[in-house]
Amino acid sequence: MSPVPKFKLNTGAELPAVGLGGWSGVTAEQHAKAVPWMLSALKSGYRHIDTAWGYGTEKYVAEAIKQSGVPREEVWITTKLPWNHPGILTVEQSLDDSLKRLGTDYVDLYLLHWPQVIDWPGEDPAYQGDIKVRESAPTFSETWAAMEEVYVKGKAKNIGVSNFSIQNLEKLLATAKIVPAMNQVEMHPLLAQEELRAYCASKGIVITAYSPTGYSNTLTNPLIVELAGKYKVSAAQIVLAWHLSRGVVVVPKSSNAERQKENLNLPTLEAEDLARISGLDRGQRLCNAVDEKGMVSGWTREQMGW
Ligand SMILES: NC(=O)c1ccc[n+]([C@@H]2O[C@H](COP(=O)([O-])OP(=O)(O)OC[C@H]3O[C@@H](n4cnc5c(N)ncnc54)[C@H](OP(=O)(O)O)[C@@H]3O)[C@@H](O)[C@H]2O)c1
Repeated sequence: MSPVPKFKLNTGAELPAVGLGGWSGVTAEQHAKAVPWMLSALKSGYRHIDTAWGYGTEKYVAEAIKQSGVPREEVWITTKLPWNHPGILTVEQSLDDSLKRLGTDYVDLYLLHWPQVIDWPGEDPAYQGDIKVRESAPTFSETWAAMEEVYVKGKAKNIGVSNFSIQNLEKLLATAKIVPAMNQVEMHPLLAQEELRAYCASKGIVITAYSPTGYSNTLTNPLIVELAGKYKVSAAQIVLAWHLSRGVVVVPKSSNAERQKENLNLPTLEAEDLARISGLDRGQRLCNAVDEKGMVSGWTREQMGW
């Protein structure tokens, strides 16, 4: 087992390669339950938390950090510009609101959560009704230009994107003045996305894997179970170690103190075993899958570049 490594971004900033996922369910009651498990993670040594307006947990991240006694500047905080704000609020207004909830005057990393813009009734992240794309909205390239401004102002120490394919990164890079430091995407052994990983590496963009465990679809896979036995660790530790070997940051979410500790203590896997895990890839999205109409939250598969 090795201590959590730090990965360097194209700004020179370094972040812990294992962070805590900050998604805490869909209801306001579930969001409010995040403080104790975020606190236990901080006590176990987590110094990187991934949150978003859409998770409804920004204020609970602030509360957990306060209760932990860990100085704010020792915790890497990532939050995200929600898909309903472009064209409604400026990027700076949206970020200022996030900063208030987070109780801080900067975030370590600010991500454009999705390339598409969605109509959302009101400002409640727990809204669960139908959503549709807002047609007359800024393009993601225009929104990126506004994200560059909050970076220059120092309110976001690093900026990046999320759910971006190679196709959409190419479009964004055509006008960007600043290359995103990060692309946060769904990634696990069943969705290895080697082409995207290699493309991002060639542009100096680090990837964060969301849904990094691959849920029970991966954790009960016979190869993963076999390797857990070989290395005397859990299935999740095998999968998370595979990500780190590819230079990919992970943000597993666990509300269980023991599993949180597991996810921080990862083995080093032999090259042959890493190759076998990569061989499980079948391009399967588990968290944000394309629906039966070929759509992903209002965009077609082609628009997403999936
Ligand atoms: N950018 C985006 O669009 C986007 C989308 C989705 C997620 N995310 C981010 O990514 C984070 C993680 O994604 P995710 O929650 O979808 O997937 P995940 O972290 O891979 O999986 C979470 C599930 O795995 C369980 N788990 C965690 N550690 C485990 C272990 N060692 N052994 C067995 N089970 C374990 C958790 O249960 P317990 O809590 O009971 O341990 C929970 O049910 C989110 O919290 C969020 O921060 C970003």
